[in-house]
Amino acid sequence: MSARSDSPPCGVEAEGLVFRYPDGRTALDGLSLRVAPGERLGIIGPSGAGKSTFLLHLNGILLPEAGVVRIGGEAVRKDNLRRIRSRVGIVFQNPDDQLFTPTVGEDVAFGPRNMGCSALETGQRVRLALSQMRLEGYEQRPVHGLSFGEKRRAALATVLAMRPRVIAFDEPFANLDPGMVEQLVALIRGLDATVILISQEILPALASVDRLAVLHRGRVEAAGPALEIARDRALLARCGIDFHVFGDVWRRVLSGSSGL
Ligand SMILES: Nc1ncnc2c1ncn2[C@@H]1O[C@H](COP(=O)(O)OP(=O)(O)OP(=O)(O)O)[C@@H](O)[C@H]1O
Ligand SMILES: [Mg+2]
Repeated sequence: MSARSDSPPCGVEAEGLVFRYPDGRTALDGLSLRVAPGERLGIIGPSGAGKSTFLLHLNGILLPEAGVVRIGGEAVRKDNLRRIRSRVGIVFQNPDDQLFTPTVGEDVAFGPRNMGCSALETGQRVRLALSQMRLEGYEQRPVHGLSFGEKRRAALATVLAMRPRVIAFDEPFANLDPGMVEQLVALIRGLDATVILISQEILPALASVDRLAVLHRGRVEAAGPALEIARDRALLARCGIDFHVFGDVWRRVLSGSSGL
């Protein structure tokens, strides 16, 4: 991507994270994970494994009961959240959690303006982020009038405009059409940032990342080169995410004997 920041991407380290929601449910149960500066890591795992909960620890929206998250070597604490949040951008699973001003343009401008960018730079960042998300001409559009897929793209644009050193995506491919998925994969591969990508959509995830971690019951069950993990059907089945069944269905459909 042409939008580059002056500072290099940051590494991310999570060590022994434990987190319980107020109702007592344990969502993270000793999660440890390292992501090198500039690396692109995918996280897969069944629904309820703790993926979104983990992401919310990266910029201190949630703080762990035990363990630590370090961004560029600096531990995330209550008293340094402003600095951490200038480095880590999170694209939430639900775009309605990300968009809060009346128009798309205002939403995308909010982050850069809040970081102290001039009006000129803010305008440039807004235009670039909107064009990266194929949202040219959407600046004045009211957020509540967007389709769900358009909202997802607007939410992505708000984070891209801040040019964070770590970008964490929570299911970014959901509700995007195939052309937009292809564009987003290319954008993610070109980002000058450390990328953490949660996705149940395995094909675009594999196309976007170098390494995969499997989360299961609040811990990292396995991590390694993406294709190695994706081929380990026993591991995937053990964790309830054997996406190879889709390949079986495709083969039946393409051979004309779908039985569907
Ligand atoms: N606000 C909450 N209050 C209580 N429990 C919660 C809350 N949010 C999540 N949980 C629970 O914590 C666990 C982990 O949830 P989380 O949302 O992190 O899973 P996930 O891996 O992101 O799942 P999905 O793939 O469905 O998005 C689940 O058991 C979930 O029910
Ligand atoms: Mg989730």
